[in-house]
Amino acid sequence: MSDHADAQPGIADINYSRFLNSVSAARQQSTMKSLGLLISKSPPSLINLCGGVPNSSTYPFKKASITMHDGSIIEIEEHLMKIALNYSLSQGVPDLVSWLKDLQIRVHNPPTVNYSPEKGQMELCITNGCLEGLSKVFEMLVSPGDNILVSDPVFEGALRVLKPLGCNIIGVPSDNQGIIPRALKEVLSKWRPEDVRKPESRSPKFLYTVPTGGNPIGMTLSTERKKAIYQIAREYDFLIVEDDPYFYLQFTKVMTLQLLYQWGHDGFLEHTDRVAEFYRLQRDAILLSADRWLTGLAEWQCPHAGMFLWIKIKNIKDTENLILEKALKKEVIFAPGNCYTIDKSKPCPYVRAAFSSCSPEQIDQGIQRLAMAIREEITSGEEINGFTEENDCSQ
Ligand SMILES: Cc1ncc(COP(=O)(O)O)c(C=O)c1O
Repeated sequence: MSDHADAQPGIADINYSRFLNSVSAARQQSTMKSLGLLISKSPPSLINLCGGVPNSSTYPFKKASITMHDGSIIEIEEHLMKIALNYSLSQGVPDLVSWLKDLQIRVHNPPTVNYSPEKGQMELCITNGCLEGLSKVFEMLVSPGDNILVSDPVFEGALRVLKPLGCNIIGVPSDNQGIIPRALKEVLSKWRPEDVRKPESRSPKFLYTVPTGGNPIGMTLSTERKKAIYQIAREYDFLIVEDDPYFYLQFTKVMTLQLLYQWGHDGFLEHTDRVAEFYRLQRDAILLSADRWLTGLAEWQCPHAGMFLWIKIKNIKDTENLILEKALKKEVIFAPGNCYTIDKSKPCPYVRAAFSSCSPEQIDQGIQRLAMAIREEITSGEEINGFTEENDCSQ
């Protein structure tokens, strides 16, 4: 939670080892990997008879050339290709790790950058994507029976990783600004802050949340809420696992221009700026269509990041039948809200619309079809709950 972490004293005092499960705590550093680190820091003249690395002259790929949308070409020369295809350090190719660390420092400036390794210095490890990173984190921390906090509703990929680990998943209610700090306090009220560091306390080990353009609700945690949640985390000594894939898809934050100024004209940040602008226009398109077709039938909030619109359908208790029967027959599909709830047996009146990959015309047609499906579902009477003519918006 970079917006405020540097304002908090004492973060270096966190005893991270107490959060590791027994499998992770039993891991030992590989001697070969330590030697690998030494080798990576040695001059190219070093004769390496140590590592059992494949001979890169046997690889099928020699070089590659990647054409960008703007016509520019990125050349991956022979030397780089050999590095890319060969064994490397477990956390990733050192030059890439170092570039990414630099990016993290410039964008988030975490206070841990200046800590000693023993005190939890910032580290970085390259993964195949968010979900692999999350799996690694969850499998490192969770033991069967542990209590875990997640924002509710929650990204269902995270649930799929967490559930088989046998933990007790506790939902923390969210509204249109993300997790509600008061609700978090309420959930934690069955533990006493003075007991949470005792091994027998079973207080939650971590809180998992998507802070920016959250999946599925599309909302972004305000700095005030981040601060409040961080304070609670310190009080109850739990970790915060932030899953932040939509950080660079913020539509309103004047962030990238400032960064470009600080960092020089780097292609990566120029690119993220263009991408965020593309998604902002997609967001505007879905909001326009929702206004046009869903007014009176549903409610939604304007997302300021990400790719999702979380729509609450009025007068329908649960959206599964609406989507998988009625909407699908009209050749449109959304994600029923119950994909993102911890307790799947509870009815959920929401649907998640992803506005990322359809054209504005397709979005408009899709939302129009949803409106028709809602009317059909309501008039068929299958899901009516206290429905009266007053709130019939079909005329
Ligand atoms: C919040 C969140 N985390 C993680 C992922 C998965 O990311 P990746 O494909 O990089 O594993 C997604 C993708 O939908 C997501 O929305």
